[in-house]
Amino acid sequence: MASLTSLISSPPSSTNNIFPKRTSQLSAPIGRLQTLRKSQLAVTCKSSNGRSDPFDEVLAAAAAASRRDVLLGLGAGLYGAGAFVTDPFSAAFARPIDGPSQDVCKLATPSPGNPLQIECCPPAMAGRESKPFQFPSPSEPKRIRRPAHLASQDKEYVEKYKLAMKRMKCLPPEDPRSFFQQAKVHCAYCNGSYVQSSHTNLGLQIHFSWLFLPFHRMYLHFYERILGSLIQDPTFALPFWNWDHEDGMAIAEMFKDPESPLFDGLRNVHHLPSNKPLDLRWDRVTEDKPFERIRDDNYARVYELMVSGAQRRLEFFGPKYRAGDPPPAGGGGTSERLHNMAHLWTGGHNQQFGEDMGNFYSAGRDPIFYVHHCNVDRLWNVWKTIGGFRFDFDDYDYLNTSFLFYDENSDLIKIKVKDVLDPQALGLEYEDRPIPWRNSRPVPTAANAARTATAAAFGGPAEAQAAITSPSAFPLVLEKVTTVMVPRPKKGRTAKEKSAASEILVVEGIELEGDKVVQFEVVINDDPDNPSGPSNSEFAGSFLNIPHVHGNNGHNKFVTGLRMDITELLEDIGAENDDQIQVTLVPKKSDGPVTIGGLKIEYSS
Ligand code: C2O
Repeated sequence: MASLTSLISSPPSSTNNIFPKRTSQLSAPIGRLQTLRKSQLAVTCKSSNGRSDPFDEVLAAAAAASRRDVLLGLGAGLYGAGAFVTDPFSAAFARPIDGPSQDVCKLATPSPGNPLQIECCPPAMAGRESKPFQFPSPSEPKRIRRPAHLASQDKEYVEKYKLAMKRMKCLPPEDPRSFFQQAKVHCAYCNGSYVQSSHTNLGLQIHFSWLFLPFHRMYLHFYERILGSLIQDPTFALPFWNWDHEDGMAIAEMFKDPESPLFDGLRNVHHLPSNKPLDLRWDRVTEDKPFERIRDDNYARVYELMVSGAQRRLEFFGPKYRAGDPPPAGGGGTSERLHNMAHLWTGGHNQQFGEDMGNFYSAGRDPIFYVHHCNVDRLWNVWKTIGGFRFDFDDYDYLNTSFLFYDENSDLIKIKVKDVLDPQALGLEYEDRPIPWRNSRPVPTAANAARTATAAAFGGPAEAQAAITSPSAFPLVLEKVTTVMVPRPKKGRTAKEKSAASEILVVEGIELEGDKVVQFEVVINDDPDNPSGPSNSEFAGSFLNIPHVHGNNGHNKFVTGLRMDITELLEDIGAENDDQIQVTLVPKKSDGPVTIGGLKIEYSS
């Protein structure tokens, strides 16, 4: 067997014979994979077929198979704009993203400039015709997703799930249904492998925009059906990591047996004990917070990101993203911000890039990824039941954005966002669970509670006044706690005005390096020397970057923003009649610098 290194590092010039349309210059030097340690790609098919760990073969064979799809310097615009409006009913200016280009797939990397290059492309899509998505027949049994901590106690279920995962891990690595290929799907759509089919000069990114929820729902749909088909069980459903309930916050038992195909060795060992709840406000330092503290803060954060901060769809789903737009990077809606910490918290704390869960390129290699995302998906449904303005988008481009997946028959399927908005139509259900965070509306600190009662004019703590940064200091590198006064265009808004539009605090021009963890928190009218946590109303939100590569030609730096709906917050801290608010940015342990462009108030309807 040729060694892995020689397979990857030799120039793949033979691809030209297969796809002669392509040009042959390398767009970037292909680095060596020598830095790849076996443990970093722990995709094993252990003890399933009597062979010893076939991992090296798996990787090498798969790399060889999929190297055929590596794009070698395809020039911008070769398949350029012009033909992207295909639906006769579409408006003349419709711009739905029409999936990734089937002819282009680049090597991915966790960090630009790093010699570690990863083959994330699926088996040859070029020249292959995709089939349109078909809904499961209504006569198919429902797939009922259950909470992982409860399903862990159901022996029969756990055995089924393990068998399905084992079979998936043991499929030949070039099989698009294999664990290896399925894990790559996430990397390809996230770490710069794909370009938009209508704009091959632009990367395709499925995080940080309104595509986040529908894309991951599709991914789970195919993944789950593949698992079910491998054990001939049409009722098979993935479990969900019920981290929004105190009983389900820890990693479920079934994922912890090192002998099980549900195990992944690249997780943070400090977070495996069954009394360790996922901490949605983990600072990457503190490991000894009491359970109750974490639970209550988690509930308050879920409340913020599902209720008070997610009153309108733009805030919940994230920014709009259409064909021809550069790939979004960072930020994202509250549904995505709510999901980020589980990645960082679960991933290996001593791995170079946070593998597996802590980096988007490798997250799909941990079986728990899919279980985490089932909860995210479930919370999308829950959000729509909360009421108010919580609806799906009905934008043409949104509904018609499409992606490509291989299904349980290894057919290449083109699926659109509009296909997945109704979970029922997908034959999917979630077991009902209590939602304890629904009533976790934060409470104001004593200072603001008193203020609410007396309706005093704005004062704020005297020490804070002295430390206030002038708005002209922006852009500024956020290195220390920074307080600034932000004017409100309207004050004393009536109930009618508030229902017509939410008041959004925007942190603009957040500039950072995509492959670095960056985090900070935002509080309003609070004591900068002792900033509040999520259980207090003064806490407006937080920013966290999960390392990834910005999918646009490897640019590592990007600029993003953070939007926080503070309509309810301002009521709770008695600031509705103020002409300005005092905003404090509190940096948390980060691995790279972050620059803040400015702060402003906006209205969102
Ligand atoms: Cu595509 Cu949790 O990420």
